[in-house]
Amino acid sequence: MGYTITEKIIKEHLAIGEMVRGTEIGITIDQTLTQDSTGTMAYLQFEAMEVPRVKTKRSVAYIDHNMLQTGPENMDDHRYIQTVAKKHGIYYSKPGNGICHQVTVERFGVPGQTLLGSDSHTPTAGGLGMLAIGAGGLDVAVAMAGGPYYITMPEIVKVELAGKLQPGVASKDIILEVLKRCTVKGGVNRVFEYVGEGVSSLTVPERATVTNMGAELGATTSIFPSDDITKAFLTAQERGEDFVPLEADEDAVYDLEIIVDLNALNALAACPHSPDNVKTIVELEGTKVDQIAIGSCTNSSYLDLMKAANILEGKTVSENVSLVIAPGSKQVLNMLAENGALAKLIDAGARILECGCGPCIGMGQSPNTSGVSLRTFNRNFKGRSGTVDADVYIVSPETAAVSAITGVITNPVTTIDPALLDIAIPEVFKVNDNMIVEPAPEGTQVDIVKGPNIKPFPETVKLQDAIAKKVLIIVEDNITTDHIMPSNAKLLPYRSNIPYLSDYCLTPCDVDFPQRAKDNGGGIIIAGHNYGQGSSREHAALAPLYLGIKAVVAKSFARIHKNNLINNGILPLVFKNEADYDTLELLDELTMEQVLDGVTKKEMTLHNATKGTFFDVIVDITDRQIDIIKAGGLINFMKMDR
Ligand code: F3S
Repeated sequence: MGYTITEKIIKEHLAIGEMVRGTEIGITIDQTLTQDSTGTMAYLQFEAMEVPRVKTKRSVAYIDHNMLQTGPENMDDHRYIQTVAKKHGIYYSKPGNGICHQVTVERFGVPGQTLLGSDSHTPTAGGLGMLAIGAGGLDVAVAMAGGPYYITMPEIVKVELAGKLQPGVASKDIILEVLKRCTVKGGVNRVFEYVGEGVSSLTVPERATVTNMGAELGATTSIFPSDDITKAFLTAQERGEDFVPLEADEDAVYDLEIIVDLNALNALAACPHSPDNVKTIVELEGTKVDQIAIGSCTNSSYLDLMKAANILEGKTVSENVSLVIAPGSKQVLNMLAENGALAKLIDAGARILECGCGPCIGMGQSPNTSGVSLRTFNRNFKGRSGTVDADVYIVSPETAAVSAITGVITNPVTTIDPALLDIAIPEVFKVNDNMIVEPAPEGTQVDIVKGPNIKPFPETVKLQDAIAKKVLIIVEDNITTDHIMPSNAKLLPYRSNIPYLSDYCLTPCDVDFPQRAKDNGGGIIIAGHNYGQGSSREHAALAPLYLGIKAVVAKSFARIHKNNLINNGILPLVFKNEADYDTLELLDELTMEQVLDGVTKKEMTLHNATKGTFFDVIVDITDRQIDIIKAGGLINFMKMDR
């Protein structure tokens, strides 16, 4: 029996376990990445492991999320990351060099290698044929220290791309179509592998748009083959030597199959407030727009911005629209500046932002009250833009650019001259890595600089055998890490200061939650399905840990967040009978006896002492995770292991 692309890479990197679906495996990690919002914690954790140099082939620390310097906190974080990177053998991508995933695809990604990143959109590098997975910062710290990364051996979904995209329909529309069919829960413990004749008509950046937003499916990752197109891209990046061909065997067996007919695909949009709430642009045409944002790790490549520049050339942005554009990297911005495309964008009335995430996480450019914002980004969760009642639509750069001219949602298929979209990948990209700082040679003395805002991470304690705590909050389905630990312009400078951040934990759901947690000496969170979806933000586990949360009882969990809870010693418990969720009320006292035994048996009974009732929960964790949770988290576990 032949292998899929995913299986080929896993087989090469298998350190622990066997490739049996649904079982836990450990894989070796070739490359890691961190970004500034999760990086400070990851490096504090790496330092705690007392490993002098990273053991990966390549590790890169990016600064891309928060580049506003409204006080010293942020620059202090950057200094810390720069110095800790220099000391421990990590490349440092300076603020302004670009968004981590865009720069990874351009400068570091290697087909067939594994990449672990403390950012949920790490799968972007799957567009190059990398097995690229998003994880919590602690998992990335472990990988930097040479440890394997553990995943459930995934099911592999074959996504057959038939035909060819029509002019005006973009690769963004492919992933929106997959999201529409599979939903934000459809990818858990699955890898989406793209094959078929349509693959050869997609450039690497277009493929990377698809794999990027595979994160919104909740997938472990997404991947494309590495073929002649990959080779041409790497050669144009002066990295031809990194090319490795990679394709599935003819007789590879997949667990599921989806066919997307590119010929028949329409321009699409994800409507408020979920990436899987997808409609055709035809259905939305004429909707008045207040703001348009082009950029993010999903759509800020050279090709994306060239299309926008061609569409906007000689036109003027509608008087009622604010158009902001954030190029994905210094390389992209530099090339647009050289070939005149930047002038076309500026001339049309676009506001050019620096190369970074910016508005994607509400770091500036929040829409007006009740505003409609069209964004080429990947997430449109309520409030993520920084404006709670804004309606955010996720679209392609083509749709965004043409709508900026008209001021209403406009169909790119019927309104754009196809010649404007016929842009080839350059034969040579402008390569200048002078914003990437190399690590110091081994043994060189480097002093790590830590500003006063950098606080130690909260202490974890060993799992107790009896727990009696109150229900502190009851939340619905699809609660995101943005709800659990908001990340906005006011809070991002404090990402290294968990005591400060914890005062905002879960406040989008209930403003009194942090105080209630403090008043009750910690407690328990009750949640619906897919709790913790969204980003890899470890702070969504660290802030609850600081507030004394002992367990989250949910109908189901998102993959990365569940791992983050376990790594930080918080019990993730799943209702055996979902109807029990409805029996619980705020401040009910829940008691658990013989917890250690229950965790070993992977099920236990909780007593609702307030109501005098009982309900069962499943402890859906692996044997290895049992030891971690009993130790009170991964750092304690690693120390015990020495
Ligand atoms: Fe940055 Fe938004 Fe991507 S925060 S890494 S551009 S999802």
